[in-house]
Amino acid sequence: MKVATRLSLSATEAAASLITPPDSVPVSYMLAPLRCSSVRQRRFLNKVFVRNSPGSMEAVRDPPMSADNAVDLSGMRVPYHNSKNPFLESDLKALEPIEQFRQWFAETCNTPGIKEPNAVALATSTPDGKPSCRMVLLKGFSKQGFRFFTNYESRKGSELAANPRACMMFYWDHKDRSVRIEGAVEKLTEEESTEYFQQRPLGSQVAATISRQSTVVPDRNFLADQAEALYAGSENRGQPLPRPSFWGGFNLVPETVEFWQGQTNRLHDRIRFRRPAPGEKLDEKLTHVGEDGWFYERLSP
Ligand SMILES: Cc1cc2nc3c(=O)[nH]c(=O)nc-3n(C[C@H](O)[C@H](O)[C@H](O)COP(=O)(O)O)c2cc1C
Repeated sequence: MKVATRLSLSATEAAASLITPPDSVPVSYMLAPLRCSSVRQRRFLNKVFVRNSPGSMEAVRDPPMSADNAVDLSGMRVPYHNSKNPFLESDLKALEPIEQFRQWFAETCNTPGIKEPNAVALATSTPDGKPSCRMVLLKGFSKQGFRFFTNYESRKGSELAANPRACMMFYWDHKDRSVRIEGAVEKLTEEESTEYFQQRPLGSQVAATISRQSTVVPDRNFLADQAEALYAGSENRGQPLPRPSFWGGFNLVPETVEFWQGQTNRLHDRIRFRRPAPGEKLDEKLTHVGEDGWFYERLSP
């Protein structure tokens, strides 16, 4: 009633505004049977619940033309978990982030529809603060850190050489979860990089060898010709390629790891593990002592 009075809405509108869509039901179908008698009612319901509202996915697939060709995405949203399924401190599988990550990663791998659970956005930055971001594949993790492989002379490689800090962000949309990992980055040893390089399929070895990653090339044939020549030569010799010195692995040593789980009502759950600051005095109401020297705390969404 309060809602109805404040916004001068009809009873139907007020009732609709109080319904929380359940997780399992796509919002587009929820109110399909509702009859809307006025244009104002219909607009209101569309705005609150219906995905083919302005700016929704359906509208974007077949966007109405505006004068400046702007595409409105304001209605594009999907439900996450409902409030009966929060991510609580008591749901932590471990009081340190590596085992907790292992659990979430395993659950993700067992979730149909997630094609590459190890695909992760990697952000780096120049020393003067110009950020850049790209996807890489996580190739292993342990208490020592999170490892990935790349070209050391690429944009990310150069940025990491000058400013060896990075941030990784996983987003597993079928689980409404993401994990953010921040810390210092170090190169893997030559032996570790070589061991991984030699496991790769020959095609991947060829591509890594001929690609001066992140540099400008005249066209695709320029790369394809070099790759073909190297591939053929290598097949004739029947031997794997040697790892180029400019290609290898990095290890991101975590200093903070944040676990995020989405809630439809936007009161998302965020639990962050972090290393204590030197000499930090713990505020026990906010921050808890975990295992292996980690602290953990809840962040506002
Ligand atoms: C799903 C996915 C996984 C990728 N994995 C890697 C990877 O493991 N290593 C890599 O160097 N590039 C990978 N790439 C390509 C990078 O995103 C990027 O194009 C390339 O590394 C050059 O980035 P840079 O110019 O910012 O250094 C991947 C791309 C995608 C979409």
